[in-house]
Amino acid sequence: FNVPELRNEPVKSYAPGSPETIVLKEALVAARSKQIEIPQYIGNQEIFSGNKRVISPPHDHQHILGYFHEGNKKDVSSAISQALHAAKPWAAMSWEQRAAIFLRAAELIAGPYRAEINAATMLGQSKNAYQAEIDAACEFIDFLRLNVNFMQEIYEQQPVSSEGVWNRMEYRPLEGFVFAITPFNFTAIAGNLPAAPALMGNVVVWKPAFTQVYAANVIMKVFKAAGLPDGVINMILVDGPAAGDIVFSHPDFAGIHFTGSTSVFKTIWKTIGNNLDCYKSFPRIVGETGGKDFVLAHRSAHAREVAIGLIRGAFEYQGQKCSAASRAYIPTNLWEEVKSIMLEELATIKMGGVEDFGNFVNAVIDEKSFDKITNYINEASKSDAVEIITGGGYTKEHGYFIEPTILLAKESNYVTLSEEIFGPVLTVFVYDENDFEGIIPIIDATSPYALTGAIFATDRYAIQYATKHLVNAAGNFYINDKPTGAVVGQQPFGGARASGTNDKAGSILNLLRWVSPRVIKETF
Ligand code: NAD
Ligand code: ALA
Repeated sequence: FNVPELRNEPVKSYAPGSPETIVLKEALVAARSKQIEIPQYIGNQEIFSGNKRVISPPHDHQHILGYFHEGNKKDVSSAISQALHAAKPWAAMSWEQRAAIFLRAAELIAGPYRAEINAATMLGQSKNAYQAEIDAACEFIDFLRLNVNFMQEIYEQQPVSSEGVWNRMEYRPLEGFVFAITPFNFTAIAGNLPAAPALMGNVVVWKPAFTQVYAANVIMKVFKAAGLPDGVINMILVDGPAAGDIVFSHPDFAGIHFTGSTSVFKTIWKTIGNNLDCYKSFPRIVGETGGKDFVLAHRSAHAREVAIGLIRGAFEYQGQKCSAASRAYIPTNLWEEVKSIMLEELATIKMGGVEDFGNFVNAVIDEKSFDKITNYINEASKSDAVEIITGGGYTKEHGYFIEPTILLAKESNYVTLSEEIFGPVLTVFVYDENDFEGIIPIIDATSPYALTGAIFATDRYAIQYATKHLVNAAGNFYINDKPTGAVVGQQPFGGARASGTNDKAGSILNLLRWVSPRVIKETF
């Protein structure tokens, strides 16, 4: 085994006038000046169904970027057939050949496709240049490159042999096809969920979110340009429940690689359970789901670090990260200072379209999300149980814009301290600085989720206490840092409880779910 060394892709700065800024701005202008048509990719065909759905930037919803051609249940059946048709030759291909395709895809994104995939993510999902760069470029490249290293680690794990006996482990792909369902908020996740099982020799039917199709199309273009054989990853543009009807009743359904909301994952799991008798194998079920991620400050913390961590954690990408800081527990001694720094910093933040690189806050993904988030704000403005400290304004006239909003809850069980809002709304609860131990069980029990969490403190006893007593409250726990921004290979990502199966995307644990090992004993 000899794969390229493990390395993370450096993040480009997009400073004003830098070469990468010039190229990206040109890509944005080019994308806005035409209307593209996006097909489904099934086998060796691009399917233009004629059932066209408009794609618009969330921050400029009257502008038309293009259309995607929605598919139907027949397309799902056809994608499954094409995947199964591709299965044998793909599984027979050597691991080096498979690895080479995905390493080439990483190089294509790092180079010639970087601006295109970033521009598509910026326009289609309303991410600013930095947020697109750390997602669509760097995190996606990291998944593609590092998964090859993890694959190597898996293949190297072999049983011991004894005299006259040679034992070996063959890491077969699953028998059948894998269904990948992806959310709108990360292009890297959209790319990794089909790519990881495919790297391990599986064939995949992939259903991106309709709100992420613009960048999903670039992902398919990259896979094709990298030499991925037809039928190995098939992209269907079919409504979730309709696709599920066909996939989850198919005998060759071998596993689901899901990222999205907890409620959708529960529905899917129940459907799979009800259909178990129709499958040839027990399907692998991997799902990364919702979060209600916390930041806990101890009285020993630095107020500025807490305030900046909260602003970045809660409001980058409009709070639409599963890992976003959405509830904060601040001690009485720090609250006034943390609040005043946050207000000071927020006053300098600009909100608007992604085309102006000075805008830190852009739009939320669509009208449905806008309505859900603003409903929480409206309820808060009417409630005596909570005070709006800043923000609370919104408009959907040109784009789905919601101001970064901070709520101060009087009780620790206020609804926005437990439910996932998935928008730029942070709820703060101020606790007695002398009762640090008392706030821990409240954090642990207030929300059903357990994705990310953070503690800010300089006191080592406090750090140790929180780390130990919040052991099940987060799959990713950060000490003196915001709870967002996990780097592939450095902080393998995933949560437990209602946040998913915790199979840590971009790690050996995740890839192990996509193999069905066979042990071979040979006696001499
Ligand atoms: P969503 O659950 O609405 O949609 C996710 C995907 O599921 C989409 O492709 C959607 O079309 C599909 N879908 C919806 N109903 C379906 C059904 N009945 N059968 C099959 N597929 C169906 O989520 P979203 O709004 O796209 O993304 C936001 C959610 O994703 C948040 O809850 C967020 O926390 C979560 N998320 C989690 C992680 C993580 O790693 N834990 C990462 C990103 C996003
Ligand atoms: N990888 C993303 C983050 O950590 C989800 O914010």
